[in-house]
Amino acid sequence: MLYGWPETDESKKMLLDQVRSFSRSVIAPKAAEADATGNFPTEIVQQLGEMGLMGMMVPEEWGGAGMDAVSYAMALEEIAAACASTAVIMSVNNSLVCYPIQAFGNDDQKKKFLTPLAQGKKLGCFALSEPGHGSDPAGLQCQAIKVEGGYKLKGSKNWITNGKEADYAIVFATTDKALGHKGICALIVDTKSTGYKVAKLEDKLGIVASSTAQLFFDDVFVPQECLLGKEGQGFKIALATLDGGRIGIASQALGIGRCAFDASKKFASEREQFGAPIAKLQAIQWFIADMATRLQAARLLTWNAAKCKDMGLKYTKEAAMAKLAASEASVWIATKAIQVHGGYGYTKEYVVERNYRDSKVTEIYEGTSEIQRIVIAAQEFAEL
Ligand code: CAA
Repeated sequence: MLYGWPETDESKKMLLDQVRSFSRSVIAPKAAEADATGNFPTEIVQQLGEMGLMGMMVPEEWGGAGMDAVSYAMALEEIAAACASTAVIMSVNNSLVCYPIQAFGNDDQKKKFLTPLAQGKKLGCFALSEPGHGSDPAGLQCQAIKVEGGYKLKGSKNWITNGKEADYAIVFATTDKALGHKGICALIVDTKSTGYKVAKLEDKLGIVASSTAQLFFDDVFVPQECLLGKEGQGFKIALATLDGGRIGIASQALGIGRCAFDASKKFASEREQFGAPIAKLQAIQWFIADMATRLQAARLLTWNAAKCKDMGLKYTKEAAMAKLAASEASVWIATKAIQVHGGYGYTKEYVVERNYRDSKVTEIYEGTSEIQRIVIAAQEFAEL
């Protein structure tokens, strides 16, 4: 049994062993330094690519590992338990960049863009949010003006994970604002194009070693062959992509929460007060019991969403539930983990301090907790 999941698949157990061993021996020892310096983990990301973890669900013929979404969720949890920054870099490339090209791209686009992205030789970012359009991307302002042979991109994007290092960006822009969400298209943009600028890097509370950038497009020419899907299909491509992205962020949140949980158990077993380890105190035991329960409930929701995706079922609601539950569990667990550690937990000497800062963003990006509730409620009332 994998964490109480009745899946007996040997390949998943092997994957988990391999990723866990890499996470513990290579990623975890460097995570505190990456958090302190904010340096992008270039070498580790390259190794993830060599291990097939940057395009896990992409078929092998397009450079990927050809694995299922449950395996992806399991692997991502392991990476996040070591370093949340590395996990979001991996999650964005897999879920938000490889997926839409695989699902909506043509063979030429798969050959040119998807293959190097899935192999980890190139890195991608997903440029949907704008300064004035975060939770409500349907009204985005970035323009794709039709010109001979393609489009001219004009506008800006905000909160773009991997924005500094990306080789390719999936950019959502409108060809006709009057059409609302039906005027949005998705373009694969080479970040070395003339007029493409990384304008500002955010100075953040957590996930410090992953970049979060503001982008500017100053008349960036995008060839027609870089249009993903059809004109006007961009908004649906974005939302369908985010369904999968939310499974990734749920898994990241699980990893952060698990790290805080494991650290709390260890600390509670070693720290003595009133003549015994604090693990003997019922107050601490209740924290640990609640942490374990919330973690497992969120994990099963996450794996359920992934399983629905693997079975070709609709998983919009399941992914939103997974992200909502896992991110809120993660923040709760990291907060209580500091409480278990007392004053020590408030210092950078203990990993729970980083877990606390890293966990918060999981309730915000790829749709806030409030957006997830809107998505879940909309599905519950779909018949109305
Ligand atoms: N998949 C495909 N299509 C979908 C869909 C889905 N999951 N959900 C809705 N649609 C379709 C609808 O069927 C509808 O199509 P028709 O017009 O043909 O009927 C169309 O999209 C519009 O649907 P809605 O009217 O429901 O759309 P809305 O404008 O009311 O928005 C929303 C709904 C749930 C609030 C959505 O805007 C949303 O998810 N917002 C949050 C955005 C978000 O997550 N942003 C994060 C960006 S990425 C990031 O965080 C940065 C990073 O780098 C990590």
